[in-house]
Formats: sequence, C-alpha cells, structure tokens
Amino acid sequence: ATVPDLAGRHVVVSAGGTREPLDPVRFLGNRSSGKQGYALARTAAARGARVTLLAANTDLPDPAGVDLVRVGTAVQLREAVLKAAADADAVVMAAAVADFRPVDYATGKIKKQGDREPDPVRLTRNPDILAEISATRARPGQLVAGFAAETDDVLANGRAKLARKGCDLLVVNEVGERKTFGSAENEAVVLAADGTETPVPYGPKEALADTLWDLVARRLDAG
Ligand code: C5P
Repeated sequence: ATVPDLAGRHVVVSAGGTREPLDPVRFLGNRSSGKQGYALARTAAARGARVTLLAANTDLPDPAGVDLVRVGTAVQLREAVLKAAADADAVVMAAAVADFRPVDYATGKIKKQGDREPDPVRLTRNPDILAEISATRARPGQLVAGFAAETDDVLANGRAKLARKGCDLLVVNEVGERKTFGSAENEAVVLAADGTETPVPYGPKEALADTLWDLVARRLDAG
C-alpha cells in the first residue's frame, strides 16, 4: 500500500512537449511523450496529493483523480504554471519546453514560391518557466523541481543547470535518439540544491516519479 505522505498537498506537474506554431498546420516541436509527467501525476495522486497536470500536446489516457489542463505553446504553459502554482506546495516541470519560438506566425499555410529559396525561420527566446517560478516562489517553502535531458557530461552539466535555474531538485538523465523519449523506462540522478545526489536505477518512470516524491515529501515535511 502507498503511504499518503502527500495528503493535503497541492502539486503541479507539467508534462509533454510544447509546440511552437509556424502556420496553421506546422510547428516546431520535440519528441517528449509526456509519460514521465503522467507517471508523476499518477503517483502523486496515489500518495494523496491534489494534482494539477498541465499537459502539452500529449496523447495519453487522462489519469484518474487529477485536474488536467491542456496547453500548446511555451507561453501558454507559462500562464498555466503561474496560475496553478499560486497555491501549490510543489511544482515539478517535467515538460520539454521549447527554448525558442518562431518570431512570425503565418495566418495562412506557408507556400512554395516557385523555384525561390524558402525564407529563413527567425526564432526568439521563450521564457524560462522553471527559472521564473524558482525565483518568485508563489508560496513560502514551495518546492520546485525540474528535469534536464543531457547528451554529455551529464552530472557536471546538471549541477550547473540546477544552480542556474535556482530550483531545489533537478532530475538529470542522459538522452539520445533511442533513449528515454517515448520509452516507459528511465534512468537518472536527482540532484538537490543541498548537494545530495540520488541515483535512480534504470526502471519504470513510476519508480523515478516515486523517488522524486520521496525527496519532495521529506523536504515539505521538514518545512
Ligand atoms: O534548460 P533546459 O531546457 O535543459 O531545462 C530543462 C528544465 O527546464 C525542464 O524542467 C523544463 O521543463 C524547464 N524549462 C522551462 N522553460 C523553458 C525551458 C525549460 O521551464 N523555456
């Protein structure tokens, strides 16, 4: 049986990947399936939390007993996170947020212009939601966690990212074309701002989710 160690807590989880539209039919996106975020939402609900799941372009069954909010772009996700975080005890940013979005949106489908080379796509930076909520903390003692997918120097890059983002916990995993994205398994290290490192062996995304909630619950209980 699962211990209800998150009872009375409101947790916010983002899942999936943002899509940044170019025109009505095209977007810049990423390979995130949303499985890790959904596993976090399910496990938090099982541990007694009230869960708000912010889902960006996922195609997974709605988890039971969870408030689901659908978003498309990074800007929409930011709005939804700021709103839901207002009374949250913990916010876990598991979504893959696009770092950039196209500057221009064509209201009609972009067409080929005969033999002319296509116009370059100009990009602009998206807001960094994790850094923003870490800096603002809508509630005193609010816990903020993020995810970092790295392809090399996983731990060193993870430590630097944890400090840069200002969050409490950062789940770092190594990705490649056939690793992690879309898969039901994950292997990671959870880095904490207090210097601790919690390795999570290769296994189901639920197991990683439960390890993260262990760390969150312990910190919330410690006040
Ligand atoms: O910097 P990087 O994209 O590797 O950081 C990943 C973490 O930051 C994830 O938790 C992701 O949800 C979050 N993030 C964000 N806003 C962005 C980019 C990433 O909240 N614009």
